[in-house]
Amino acid sequence: MHIVHVVGARPNFMKVAPVLHALAGRPGVTQTLVHTGQHYDPNMSDVFFQQLGIPAPDVNLSVGSGTHARQTAEIMTRFEPVVVERKPDMVLVYGDVNSTVAATLVCSKLGVLVGHVEAGLRSFDRAMPEEINRLVTDQLADLLFTPSEDGDVNLHREGIPKEKIHLVGNVMIDSLVRLLPEIVRHTRSDLPKRYALVTLHRPSNVDDSEALKGILKSLLEVSQDLAVVFPAHPRTRQRIADFGLNADQLRLLDPLPYVEFLALQRGATVVITDSGGIQEETTYLGVPCLTLRNNTERPVTVSVGTNVLVGQDAQKLRSELANILDGKAKKGTVPPLWDGRAGERIADVLTGTQLSGSVSLPGAKKDVSHSTPSKPVVR
Ligand code: UD1
Repeated sequence: MHIVHVVGARPNFMKVAPVLHALAGRPGVTQTLVHTGQHYDPNMSDVFFQQLGIPAPDVNLSVGSGTHARQTAEIMTRFEPVVVERKPDMVLVYGDVNSTVAATLVCSKLGVLVGHVEAGLRSFDRAMPEEINRLVTDQLADLLFTPSEDGDVNLHREGIPKEKIHLVGNVMIDSLVRLLPEIVRHTRSDLPKRYALVTLHRPSNVDDSEALKGILKSLLEVSQDLAVVFPAHPRTRQRIADFGLNADQLRLLDPLPYVEFLALQRGATVVITDSGGIQEETTYLGVPCLTLRNNTERPVTVSVGTNVLVGQDAQKLRSELANILDGKAKKGTVPPLWDGRAGERIADVLTGTQLSGSVSLPGAKKDVSHSTPSKPVVR
């Protein structure tokens, strides 16, 4: 069985690693890794490959940045010939980034099976580009691997046949569990004992000058009580400069490698973020997390974990922070199946399922053929 994995952006890399590793040991499986090049800065990409033990990509589509339409279209145009040439039995896509939906669209039209890792998450907010990517990808995917039960519930509600859905747990936590000994060993001597760790990159928070100004003002307030350590995403740093905003009181750092960043999370008094994955990692680590969003596609981090949604409400951020500093932080537990074995469960499903011949997956395309782009498959 030939499996092609498609990744492109930073949060994909910690998700593909455990699946690649789990499948590497399975007889009869060959794997191809495609990097779309959506993220291309070395500190957004290469360093993650090294630390996570991911082999160099077999194919790099080098698409780079662009508007959503341009980036998605570019990935599709460059990925299509790869699928036609390599004839995979299954293409695995990860998370909710533009690379995820672009690769899924290409495969669906070529009649190639798609598996979506981290399926079923919903913020119910279609203003988020990622929500659009999730909805489209899940409608088209043939196998849907969910991290938590809410994902299954969402997919059932959208009419996805239950045979396609596999509750496998959280692959991102697999990477965390595997590298935890290194994360624990990693200490920084240049930081105070207590600090707030901040990340920020959602368009709704950083592309609007008023929103970003308000958040930075709140963070400056936080910095009166607690050092604020802020590894900034390239787009965020760019916006701070574009809007002429002041972040002088904050310790602005370049994006950090995986182990260094997880070590900072583990040691933080509080994490303040608008990321999706960080809500999950803090829940696993038991570190208080204040999320600068009004919704989350990862509700389990709020219902059982350490996460609290504060949106852009400065007052709420202040009062939740005061609770944490008073030692009254919310205590969480780790959701079921966030145990470091999700990648193995995905490998079990894939290798236990016959993808060609007379047996086909429920709802999957039959007679998978690989046409040239000029002769699309008509089904
Ligand atoms: C993407 C994902 C988002 C994910 C985030 C993690 C989509 C729709 N969004 O958002 O879900 O949480 O990655 O980081 O796919 N840039 C660089 N260097 C890079 C990459 C980007 O400087 O290596 C800059 C460019 O100016 C670019 C901007 O960041 O235009 C945005 O990058 P892009 O990949 O389009 O989206 P992200 O904001 O990173």
